[in-house]
Amino acid sequence: QIPPLSQCLNLYDFEVVGKQVLKPTAWAYYSSGADDEVTMRENSNVFGRIWFRPRILRNVSNINFATTMLGMKTTMPIYITATALGKLGHPDGEKNLTIAAGKTGIIQMIPTLASCSFDEIVDARINDQQVQFFQLYVNSNRAITEKIIRKAEDRGVKGLFVTVDAPQLGRREKDMRMKFDDTGSQVQNEGKDDVDRSQGAARAISSFIDPSLNWEDLQWLRSCTKMPICLKGVQTWEDAVLAAEAGLNGIVLSNHGGRQLDYARAGIEILEEVVTALKARNLWKPTFEVYIDGGVRRATDVLKAVAMGAKGVGIGRPFLYAYSAYGPDGVVHAINLLKAEMEMGLRLIGAPTLADLTPEMVDTRALGSH
Ligand code: FNR
Repeated sequence: QIPPLSQCLNLYDFEVVGKQVLKPTAWAYYSSGADDEVTMRENSNVFGRIWFRPRILRNVSNINFATTMLGMKTTMPIYITATALGKLGHPDGEKNLTIAAGKTGIIQMIPTLASCSFDEIVDARINDQQVQFFQLYVNSNRAITEKIIRKAEDRGVKGLFVTVDAPQLGRREKDMRMKFDDTGSQVQNEGKDDVDRSQGAARAISSFIDPSLNWEDLQWLRSCTKMPICLKGVQTWEDAVLAAEAGLNGIVLSNHGGRQLDYARAGIEILEEVVTALKARNLWKPTFEVYIDGGVRRATDVLKAVAMGAKGVGIGRPFLYAYSAYGPDGVVHAINLLKAEMEMGLRLIGAPTLADLTPEMVDTRALGSH
């Protein structure tokens, strides 16, 4: 009873279809945010307070939005971010995302808590050129983490994104009301034996995450790998500055899709203060990339972020819904919709390339200051 894929005209349409096809337990896990979900809603709402200042008469016959992330080529400044438990929505889990990312030339971030094994996700690459990043939860048992990192590097992963906004999993009550007993939800994580299944999917899978992780551990991480290392879940300019000073390769301004601290601000909202703080300290350099994620649903959201200084943006839930309903074709379609929106957006803004998209082309006054 779901509509044909061609009737999905934008990313919001996949959420409607996702709710139709997903089991209640899976819908609860994918769609939930923390506490009262204020941050989750705000992630999307904030984009509504940023306006364009389009320029005219700029020869926009040819539009090009190809770019790089951590030095790797991508067809647009959007990547598929890490989301755990991919098989809750579809038996092929994260492989759906790998195939779609490969076909459309964008980068996928593989989650530590994938339902498919890491090798299965790597083996699903459509060719040798396909680029993948890896999202890392640091285990209390550091030897396990070192092994995971080494394996990622061996198998050609091009960047490590260490999640730093989840020393404890947020309280997602929709998810907690569901007993986590779904067979499709096995995660490939060593040291997960004593899970508590009465508290929803999130709690059941996350008990191994090390809450003692701190800035001094970054040196250890750096010694484990030659891959570029970024922090995922930076939420203030102060921490952005510390990350740059620590010699990391980048950060993702993110609140984990509103699933961790409720009333954390949206990534797009703190982008401006982060860029200002980095510039003031001479830390704004091409070797330190700033990404955002959370609530990105339209190419105009992406263009706002890029104009304000983001190297790219991550998108999570819409791709989960897309493959839950339509498999990899759904994700390809979603990405192609975004590509069409990107082309139109850049043309109407008067920026034929991403380099032409400057901070003056957005009006952020309605964001206010904090
Ligand atoms: C996530 N996210 C996430 N992040 C992470 O670092 N490790 C993880 O295991 C997960 N798992 C996860 C599961 C699900 C179901 C969701 C929706 C999200 C957070 C994710 O990477 C990203 O920050 C947000 O999803 C971005 O927001 P949108 O695009 O979903 O609004």
